[in-house]
Amino acid sequence: MNEKNIIITGATDGIGLAAAKTIASQGYRVGLVGRNPDKAKTAIESIISHTGNDKIDFFQADLSLVKEIHKLSNQIKQKYSHLNVLLNNAGGANRYKIITDEGLEKTFATNQMNYFVLTTNLMDMLSESHGSRVVNVASNAHIGASIDFDNINSEKGHSWWKSYCISKLMNIMFTYRLAEMQDKVTANCLHPGFVDTNIGGNEGNVIKKIVKFGSRIFARTVQDGADSSIYLSTSDEVENITGKYFFKCKEIKSSKVSYNKDHWIKIWDICQSYKEQLL
Ligand SMILES: NC(=O)c1ccc[n+]([C@@H]2O[C@H](COP(=O)([O-])OP(=O)(O)OC[C@H]3O[C@@H](n4cnc5c(N)ncnc54)[C@H](OP(=O)(O)O)[C@@H]3O)[C@@H](O)[C@H]2O)c1
Repeated sequence: MNEKNIIITGATDGIGLAAAKTIASQGYRVGLVGRNPDKAKTAIESIISHTGNDKIDFFQADLSLVKEIHKLSNQIKQKYSHLNVLLNNAGGANRYKIITDEGLEKTFATNQMNYFVLTTNLMDMLSESHGSRVVNVASNAHIGASIDFDNINSEKGHSWWKSYCISKLMNIMFTYRLAEMQDKVTANCLHPGFVDTNIGGNEGNVIKKIVKFGSRIFARTVQDGADSSIYLSTSDEVENITGKYFFKCKEIKSSKVSYNKDHWIKIWDICQSYKEQLL
């Protein structure tokens, strides 16, 4: 049990890959989750050559699909004897409305259902290790967003930006609710800052342009964007901290709406219900 194991989703690119490199350099066994084996191969080679740590595994899954997350959870449980950290990072924005084969709007499915299903599936394993952590990458894009519970899957209309912002608000509410429910595992979330990554790369260039513009103004590199992910996943300083939101490794307040406990419960119940339907 001496070796520390971490699962990082969306670790084939951007902030997730930057976090994986630093965490691997600290000696962790790192399980990268991604959907593209070629990108994963390149990512693994780069991590090993940068860190000398070859304890790097790849799990392939399309995280917009609940059924794939169930399979992934079983694979993780078979491969690892224990799990110390789950870093939920994979996410993106879809410029057009896409409904997955499972009937969920893709931004909601990838950004929120993914975090919910993987975390709740792995919670028994996380609970077995002392001091385990869940870290959720959210965003300050949640500020100003509120959840329309009748439009979870864009039934009444779709705005790519609104869907993205709401999914990031859900990430924060999910984290707060999880922290309240758990006494063995901590749960924290973070804003990485505007960082020029491949986010929205496959979906037209509007999202990329916004991120590029923001990253220039705020001058955050991809490595800077990984700072709180690394800190919350590994630092002794936050060993007993739970239910908080961070930026640049400092606790900050999230939006007023994000502290609405009724909405924490409502969104939890919606995710749980989809999870059960899609077993
Ligand atoms: N960049 C920013 O300015 C910014 C700001 C605030 C919050 N964030 C958050 O930071 C996190 C990381 O984003 P990033 O900026 O690093 O973007 P990125 O470079 O596009 O990386 C996203 C990662 O998630 C993976 N991913 C996306 N959809 C997936 C799916 N359906 N199944 C499996 N993997 C999937 C991608 O895989 P592929 O390589 O296969 O695409 C990639 O590895 C996201 O949660 C995002 O919301 C980013």
